[in-house]
Amino acid sequence: MRAKILTLLRERGDYVSGQELCDRFGVSRTAVWKAIGQLKKEGYGIDAVRNKGYCLVWEGEIYGQHELDSRMNTKWAGHPVYFYDELPSTNLQAKLDAEKGAAQGTLLVADMQTAGRGRRGRAWSSPGGTNIYFTLIIKPDFQVEQVSMMTLVMGLAVAEGILKTCGVEACIKWPNDIVINGKKVCGILAEMSVEREYIHYVVIGVGINVGLQEFPPEIVEMATSLQAECGHAVSRAELIVNVMKEFETFYEIFRKDGNLKGLVERYNHLLVNRGREVRVLSPGDEFVGISRGISEIGELLVEKDDGTVTKVYAGEVSVRGIYGYV
Ligand code: BTN
Repeated sequence: MRAKILTLLRERGDYVSGQELCDRFGVSRTAVWKAIGQLKKEGYGIDAVRNKGYCLVWEGEIYGQHELDSRMNTKWAGHPVYFYDELPSTNLQAKLDAEKGAAQGTLLVADMQTAGRGRRGRAWSSPGGTNIYFTLIIKPDFQVEQVSMMTLVMGLAVAEGILKTCGVEACIKWPNDIVINGKKVCGILAEMSVEREYIHYVVIGVGINVGLQEFPPEIVEMATSLQAECGHAVSRAELIVNVMKEFETFYEIFRKDGNLKGLVERYNHLLVNRGREVRVLSPGDEFVGISRGISEIGELLVEKDDGTVTKVYAGEVSVRGIYGYV
């Protein structure tokens, strides 16, 4: 009910009478009064005036269950959403939930992670009060070979979500990272459970650096945050909701074609290093070529000196510009 009151007050942008709230939500005056009190406690600035009602006058950075519930404007991505103050890892929790039958679209969000996981078994630094850590559960009915494209769909959703929320163009560093001005702002870790070609579930974990912060010395040169790049504070809840909205749209386009055909153009527009020299590092192989964008099934097309084009499959490969991280 708190989420519904919040949505109504936000949409109205003016005073809403206590009676209207009671009628709309079929509850008593006391219940409305209690809900308003709880919202105030959570930090919402709600003005209460006799004979006028309630008005949402200040929101600030409020991040939590009700904020996400009240903003989520999708059909299935982000429904339900579970907010935790602290988790070891949202990916880990999502896998446990998926094993227990959590539905497609279930979203787990944590303010802080105590055992955040990155790719290649690395740790993902996850301090509280500043960044985004979430994992979306997908129960796909497609083939195992198509799963790696989910990371690309999420990458595109994050880049578009950042543009919508912060007004800055973020680029995609194929296949897992989002960068702004040559520095990493987001990493994506998709994991799946498969049995004899049958996919039980896929969990797509996303970590976005949002607030100003000090990065550990080993990554300070290649990491940045949204606030550092766009110069103002960013609402984490708004960004998550925008990413979910984009993901849902892109996922449905992907489902229709069974590949990235309908997304390739936009993806390649945001792809960092397109038309530039990149170094491809895969176990036992390393070569340099010009990045020509992605294919309809998400491979990176790299043109070598002799004009041949190699299709690089995401897997354990790493692609770098020839001058450093990007
Ligand atoms: C990378 O190495 O770049 C991927 C980082 C992915 C981090 C996110 S944070 C939310 C989710 N939970 C985790 O433990 N990892 C992912």
